[in-house]
Order: sequence, then structure tokens, then C-alpha cells
Amino acid sequence: MNLHVPSSTAVALDPAIQKFLDAGPKFLIDGKLVQAQAGATIDIRNPATAQVVAKVPEARAEDIDLAVKAARRAFDQGPWSRLTPAERGKLVYKLGEIIERHAEEFAQLEALDNGKPISESRAADLPIAYNTFYYMAGWATKIAGATLSPSNAGEYHAYTLREPIGVVGQIIPWNFPLMMAAWKLAPALAAGCTVVLKAAEDTPLSALRLAQLIVDEADFPAGVINIVTGYGETAGAALAAHPQVDKIAFTGSTEVGKLIVKAAAGSLKRVTLELGGKAPTIVFPDADLDRAIPGVTLGSFFAQGQVCVATTRIYAHKSIFDKLIEGVRDAASKIRVGPGLDTATQMGPLVSATQLKRVSGYVQSGRDEGAHVQVGGEGLTGSDGYFLKPTILTNANPAMKVVREEIFGPVVVAQAFDDTALDKLAAEANDTEYGLAASVWTQNASIAHKMAKRIKAGTIWINCHHVFDPVLPFGGYKQSGWGRENGAEAIENYLETKAVTMAL
Ligand code: NAI
Ligand code: MG
Repeated sequence: MNLHVPSSTAVALDPAIQKFLDAGPKFLIDGKLVQAQAGATIDIRNPATAQVVAKVPEARAEDIDLAVKAARRAFDQGPWSRLTPAERGKLVYKLGEIIERHAEEFAQLEALDNGKPISESRAADLPIAYNTFYYMAGWATKIAGATLSPSNAGEYHAYTLREPIGVVGQIIPWNFPLMMAAWKLAPALAAGCTVVLKAAEDTPLSALRLAQLIVDEADFPAGVINIVTGYGETAGAALAAHPQVDKIAFTGSTEVGKLIVKAAAGSLKRVTLELGGKAPTIVFPDADLDRAIPGVTLGSFFAQGQVCVATTRIYAHKSIFDKLIEGVRDAASKIRVGPGLDTATQMGPLVSATQLKRVSGYVQSGRDEGAHVQVGGEGLTGSDGYFLKPTILTNANPAMKVVREEIFGPVVVAQAFDDTALDKLAAEANDTEYGLAASVWTQNASIAHKMAKRIKAGTIWINCHHVFDPVLPFGGYKQSGWGRENGAEAIENYLETKAVTMAL
């Protein structure tokens, strides 16, 4: 653990970003950058120092109402619905280009706001964000219905129309702020919807910077994209319950996902949910440990482990368990933990004091229930930031809270298995209310694909972990959610189907 990062590797904020922060970020509502009506603000902290770095407006129900009405007008009356698919696709593509052009500024904002290492926001968050716009832009011209042949007496011409659902409310979390905004905005816009996006109150800076760039550099008609932030219980709840919103797309905790479903029931608006996870990673005795060790390390500690698909449960065969855990422990102990805005940093702080308390509580609960802390389990001495070192817990059993609940931090729990019967192993992997992701490490292709079939999760990685691409559908079985993001499925989330039948 190298805490003494040379200052030559510290990143100085781009002047455009400093100017954006100093001027005070604003909402985008109806094509204009505006303050919250009540004038309330939220303090935004750098999680590496706990210092306030910006104040952003705080949306209340009245701001949400303005944004929804703007999106409603843009959908029902505006020029948006009269654009050709190619024109729509071009605007979506151009938004990707705007993000790519400003990628370094966004990478800095993410490191400042979320705490993640800038090496990571440069290499992962930003490319995934703009590539999502490039990929989804192509779908705008490829949305198509079908011609159908009814068997009724007589002769018919029947076909389906695929139409945008309408006004979409999108609520996103703080772990990949810009990337989550991209996963939500790109397919909704490509499908022809209009949008009110509520960024997480902990990390709204990149979304609000995007709002500014949309005004300055993009050509979307007013009201098509509205971007706000505010607390979940007020702004988020007002969006989820708003009767003029046709669909809510949510990413966050399973607990809040259930509240969204209740709020949506009032108008029976459509709902898609991307919720929590408790991904198992299963390491077979024949696994290539030279790949599995770095793979499991990345799976566990990438983005400070604040990832819904993080490898949170290691199951390793007892013949290789010690070797694997020693390898991951050595790798974990070498991870340079430090401020996000330092190019030497490999793992940053957790996003907030609340999250640090929550994750530390899980480490304590593991200790109380008899798990052994192999490495980590403590913060950085002498720092006010929300740091927790990479942590590995062994001597775990399936009844422990740390094995059952989503931790959402750099804490992984390891258990050994003896019996290699695949059904038994899969049952253990599936012994969770979640079903978002899993990974399997083996050199036996037959075992790999048999496990892929047996595990109930929306994503299965074989000999890899944390591979994301706009083409790969992403979402959960069971209480990990409803629907899929990315791929053709993401476009489906934003379309209605209309059957048109003409008697000839
Ligand atoms: P959260 O689910 O409360 O927040 C996610 C988003 O939902 C934020 O934009 C928030 O403002 C909004 N929100 C909160 N309450 C709402 C409500 N009643 N109505 C509408 N919107 C609401 O997640 P939180 O509190 O930040 O983190 C708690 C735990 O949730 C984490 O420890 C983790 O286990 C899980 N989580 C999972 C994520 C995922 O990617 N699946 C992302 C973030 C958190
Ligand atoms: Mg919450």
C-alpha cells in the first residue's frame, strides 16, 4: 500500500472544469440552464478529502413538474417527433462526439465527484459512455415492425408499428455517473422518447456538465433532454409518481426499486429496473490461476467494489483455494489507494461518508460472525477521505450477512468447495435473492457452458469479469431487476407496439 503518491502525478483540473464548478452547475430544463425554483442547493464533496468542491441546485417536486411538462410538450407538439430516424440518429451520435471531445474534462469530474481513479475514468467510464451513444445512434434507423397474416375469414393487410413510449423519467446512481447517464439517455433518444434524467445527489457533476454542453454544442430541440438532480425521497419520488411520465427507468438499490414500482402503480407507467447484485465467481481446480488471480482482483476492487456486478462471493475449489486467495491477497495489498485525481492511484475512496459507514459495518458484521480478515478491513490513517483498503474475508459460510447481502464496497468473501457436482455448485451460486452476474474460471469448455446454463443471472463471464460493451445486454434475474440495458433490448425498453389491421 503506497500512500505517498508523488505529487508529480496529481492532476490539475482543466480550466473549463474549474470555470464550470466556480460558475455553479445548473439544471437543463426546456432547453435552458436554470436554477432550482426554491433556490435550494446541495453541497458536493470530493470523497478523497471530504471538502466541498461545488454547490448544485436541488430539485423539488415543482422543478420535476417543470421538466416533465417540457418533455411532454417536446414529445407531443415539438419538432422532435417529426424528425426522420436518420436525423435523430445523427443527434445521438453527435452527443457521443461531444462527450469524446470533452473526455478528459469528464474523466476529471468523475474522479473529483465519485472518487474513482482518473486512470479508470479515462480507460473505462468515458469510452463506455461515448461508445454507448455511437452504438445506440445506429438503432434509430433500424427500428421496424413486421407484416402479419391474420387467419380470420377475409383478406387483410396487417402490420405492427414500433413507437416511442413517450416521456421517460430516468433515475441513476452514483457509481458510474456519466456512464449510467449514457446507458439511459442514448437508447431512449434513439427510440424517439423525450427524457427527464435525475442524476444521483452524491455525483451530479458530470450529468450537469453534459447539460451545459448540450446547450452549447448539441442541436436537440428544447425539452427533449432535461437534466436535474435532487434527493431520492423528494425529486426522485416526484418523478416516479408523476402522472405525465410514461415510463421510469431506474438504476439503484433493490429497496428503492420496489418503491419505484409502487409509485409507478398510480398511472401504470412502464418500469425497467437495474438493481442490486451478489455475483459469485467460481474457480474450478483446472482454472488458469495466472488469469483468475488478476481477474478476481479486478472483479472485486474495480471502482472500489461499488459495482452491482462486482465479484462479491468467491467459491474456489479446495485444491487451489489457498493459492488463489494468497494471489488475490498479494495483488490487493499492492493496490495503490489514494485520491482519484492522481494518475498513480489504483483505488480511490468510497463515494460518501454514508457508504463508508455502511461498508465498514459489513466488515464488522463479518468479524462478529467469525470471518477472518485476510487483508484490509481498515481505512487510511491521516486522511479525512472515505477510504477503505481492499478487503478479503475468509472462513465464511452461507448463513453470514456478508455472504447474503450486497456490500457495495471493496470487500470480497471467499469460501472453498469440495464437491464439483455442477448442479450442487450452481445451487450454491443461485442461493441469493439476486441474479445480476456471475463468473466462472475453468479451462474445460463443457463445464464453463454447463455452468452458464445453470446460473440464474443476466450476465455470465467465462475466464473474465467486468467486460462491458454496448452490444451486450445487461440486467438481472430475480430481484436484480426488470428489463435489459444495452444491445437491441435497450431499444425495446423504450418502444410500444401497435397492431394495425385493414380489411381489404
Ligand atoms: P439508492 O437506490 O437510494 O439511490 C439510487 C438513485 O435513486 C439515486 O438517484 C437516488 O436519489 C434515487 N432514489 C433514492 N430514493 C428514491 C425514491 N424513494 N424514489 C425515487 N428515487 C429514489 O442507493 P443509495 O442509497 O445511494 O445506495 C444504497 C445501496 O444501494 C448501495 O449500498 C448498494 O447496495 C445499492 N446500489 C446499487 C446500485 C446499482 O448499480 N445496482 C447503485 C447504487 C446503489
Ligand atoms: Mg438510498
